[in-house]
Amino acid sequence: MKNNAAIGIFDSGVGGSSIWQEIHKLLPFENTIYLADSKNAPYGHKSKEEITALSVKNVERLISLGCKIIVVACNTATTNAISQLRATYSIPIIGIEPAIKPAALKTTSKSIGILATKGTLSSLLFHKTAMEHTKDIKMLEIVGEGLVPLIEKGNLEGPEMVNLLQKYVTPMIEADIDYLVLGCSHYPYLIPLLRKMLPPHIQIIDSGEAVARHTQYTLASIDLLRKETSPPKLQFFTNNTTEALEFLLQDYSEEISVEKKDF
Ligand code: SIN
Repeated sequence: MKNNAAIGIFDSGVGGSSIWQEIHKLLPFENTIYLADSKNAPYGHKSKEEITALSVKNVERLISLGCKIIVVACNTATTNAISQLRATYSIPIIGIEPAIKPAALKTTSKSIGILATKGTLSSLLFHKTAMEHTKDIKMLEIVGEGLVPLIEKGNLEGPEMVNLLQKYVTPMIEADIDYLVLGCSHYPYLIPLLRKMLPPHIQIIDSGEAVARHTQYTLASIDLLRKETSPPKLQFFTNNTTEALEFLLQDYSEEISVEKKDF
């Protein structure tokens, strides 16, 4: 039964598990298969061609595992490869884009910040979205150089992370931003540290919940939501060591399986 097939999710590494958490919260009975392509992380510095080739590999793997829908839980892969993926495969494909629109609509200081990878900030899709929504506001774009490799090691608040993040948020505070958009699915894991660094009036926005709602809406519209309420199968595959995923998902350790696999 296709309704029981899994939601396939992939990311350049462990960060997309922040998106998985939102999907699991909204759709607790859905079976899921998550691919962490950590061996090839970060994607953020790779060329559009390389990012697309890696995304194709991940999608094909998820299709071969029988998934009913694919969630690209990686901003860099979405902004660089999603048009080609959608043109190539008939399976529904959900992407993740930085939440520029809600930040632009809500800002009162008329200044917002975006933290993302070089690959996302330099993509055509990002530029198109930014142009559409930020005509009368200032948008400070900062590349989160070095953040993904640290998160891949499970380092969310060590001195190296604190120093890097401080360097990135200082110009944003000076630019009087009132919204910080997290444009990489790894970054929601930095929210506790960011909260300590940012003045309380600065709101942090990420796209996880929106992606989960979009996934739910799409599955409902094609009648592919799982109808059973028995415990789902929640599988995580990584082509690197399992520790970082196990650490980030420790609250779910009873429900999930994490396995190292070559892909
Ligand atoms: C990266 O692999 O560089 C980050 C992934 C993302 O953009 O979400």
